[in-house]
Amino acid sequence: MSHPLDGPIELARLVPAGELEELAAAVEQAVGAAVAIFDPRGRRLAGSEHAGAPCRDIDHDGEPLAKLASRSPAALDLAAQMLGLLTHHANARELAATTHEEAMRITFAELTEQNQRLQRAVARLEELDRLKSNFLATMSHELRTPLTSVIGYAEMLAEGLAGPVSTDQREYLGTILSKADQLLGMITSVLDVASVESGVPPLERASLSLTDIVASEVALFTAAARKREIAIQLETRGDTIVVGDRKKIRQVVSSLLSNAVKFTPDHGKVGVCVKPGPLSPHDGNARAVQLVVSDSGIGISREQVSKIFEPFFQVDSSSTRAFGGTGLGLTLAKAYVEAHGGRIWVDTSPGQGSTFVATFPIVGGSA
Ligand SMILES: Nc1ncnc2c1ncn2[C@@H]1O[C@H](COP(=O)(O)OP(=O)(O)OP(=O)(O)O)[C@@H](O)[C@H]1O
Ligand SMILES: [Mg+2]
Repeated sequence: MSHPLDGPIELARLVPAGELEELAAAVEQAVGAAVAIFDPRGRRLAGSEHAGAPCRDIDHDGEPLAKLASRSPAALDLAAQMLGLLTHHANARELAATTHEEAMRITFAELTEQNQRLQRAVARLEELDRLKSNFLATMSHELRTPLTSVIGYAEMLAEGLAGPVSTDQREYLGTILSKADQLLGMITSVLDVASVESGVPPLERASLSLTDIVASEVALFTAAARKREIAIQLETRGDTIVVGDRKKIRQVVSSLLSNAVKFTPDHGKVGVCVKPGPLSPHDGNARAVQLVVSDSGIGISREQVSKIFEPFFQVDSSSTRAFGGTGLGLTLAKAYVEAHGGRIWVDTSPGQGSTFVATFPIVGGSA
């Protein structure tokens, strides 16, 4: 870019006409003689017509800058000095502005480039994320197909379709079936999370009793809990009808119940309550049905609690961890609750147990 200060200096561009007029007026007042200022080609820029013809050349750094006219040598001298000062000042002003402009231009160019780099990185990350979700979905699907056959054939064996089964064989088949079921559950979770990550799948919408769903899920967990002498207490209050997707709501309930039982030591307590209440902890007005699952278990520290809804996060992720699972239950629960317009949150601290609350808005209530 050519520098504006390169080449001949143009007085009219450098110094505003008003300032030249002020100069001429000031000289006339000081000396009592009219003065006029012309550009090097003799075009009048400011001052009085009565000053006469240009009679003095003014240079700046060896370049013709202006011509002055006056019948008084004193007025010419004063005007020349003032013009020198004015030009010097304007020059400095312009230099500062140009330097500033240049600096801005460089910063802007750098920012633009940085922005483009960021956009490329974001696009790449999005692409990777999409590939990851696709990979998870495909893998889970591919794993599920053979596993379904394993389960099917083990069930056929257990039913004696291939001949009599001894007690030991029945026991081993039972283990194969329960581990295969567990594996199928994990693969299904991965598949569900992959599909949630590429946009929550459409919900079915039916009028449902949350109490009924919770009661049937509690019944499913009771036997396992009893073995560890964990009592599950169910309490329901008021109207608990919600509109939503039965399968997904069931999954939310199951996820919270399974965690409560899993992370509570033997002889502990799990309480489940379904009742009308606010939609979120900060919202006293919006009406919703609340599912509250509290346990007397190990609790979660403040640092970890912000991460438990992230995919695959587990507080204890060591290979020797005591609890199974994939760390996807709460991710799915949160996605499904929010797809219904609800909220999910937890109140917990280490050693003090946890209380998870999931809410589902009442249709017609303010969300
Ligand atoms: N009631 C709870 N008490 C203590 N910690 C909990 C409780 N619920 C969840 N957590 C912590 O949050 C983590 C994430 O829970 P989440 O349900 O997503 O995964 P998971 O139970 O480990 O595996 P999955 O649900 O996929 O079988 C758990 O691994 C555990 O560390
Ligand atoms: Mg879980």
